[in-house]
Amino acid sequence: MTPEAAPRGLWVTFEGGDGAGKTTQAALLEEWVSDQGRTVVRTREPGGTEVGVLIRDIVLHHRGDIAPRAEALLYAADRAHHVATLVRPALERGDVVIQDRYLDSSVAYQGAGRVLDAAQVRDLSLWATEGALPDVTVLLDLDPASARARLDADDKPFDRLESEKAEFHERVREAFLALARAEPDRFVVLDASLPADELAAAVRERVAAVLA
Ligand code: TYD
Repeated sequence: MTPEAAPRGLWVTFEGGDGAGKTTQAALLEEWVSDQGRTVVRTREPGGTEVGVLIRDIVLHHRGDIAPRAEALLYAADRAHHVATLVRPALERGDVVIQDRYLDSSVAYQGAGRVLDAAQVRDLSLWATEGALPDVTVLLDLDPASARARLDADDKPFDRLESEKAEFHERVREAFLALARAEPDRFVVLDASLPADELAAAVRERVAAVLA
């Protein structure tokens, strides 16, 4: 007799620049996946765990500089704890994990943004998570000027990364697009200037195909 197949969860991450609408799309996807009768774990990086919340406060709200390598290590530490204690157990239970940001954010922000070596930044996260990669990564692509206008309209104070200059955000955008080109099977790239319901339908279509 063959052993019963282990339950298989599904892991979806949302990536993109600040202001691209990841949180809205993650919430819409959560609603739809729950309606399909699946258990959803909705989470984010940095800050998906209690330890992560402390790290998030340092990386986003510390006043003054943090050395680029220290910043990369802080995000990687958050990620290591998050995957070990929350994401992996959820996937092993067969849940659907819907997550705002993962290691592609480190490659884009700490690699291209802070100008660290992209391959090293990626390897650091792969070491931290014992090689965990999502099943689907939705990249919400938006030009930094439109993203900035959305953030301005939000009227929330900017965090350390959001406060970076336009060229930083342009490099981040290009890095995300390059990551998507390098892994076309994992990534779906969507034009984040489209209306939210159109984007949600495109995300659902892709997720439905792998959920079946
Ligand atoms: P996010 O939670 O998307 O911000 P908000 O709550 O304002 O929507 O992300 C926080 C910031 O952290 C964002 O500017 C991107 C940055 N970041 C990195 O620089 N590297 C990383 O590895 C991650 C996960 C995020």
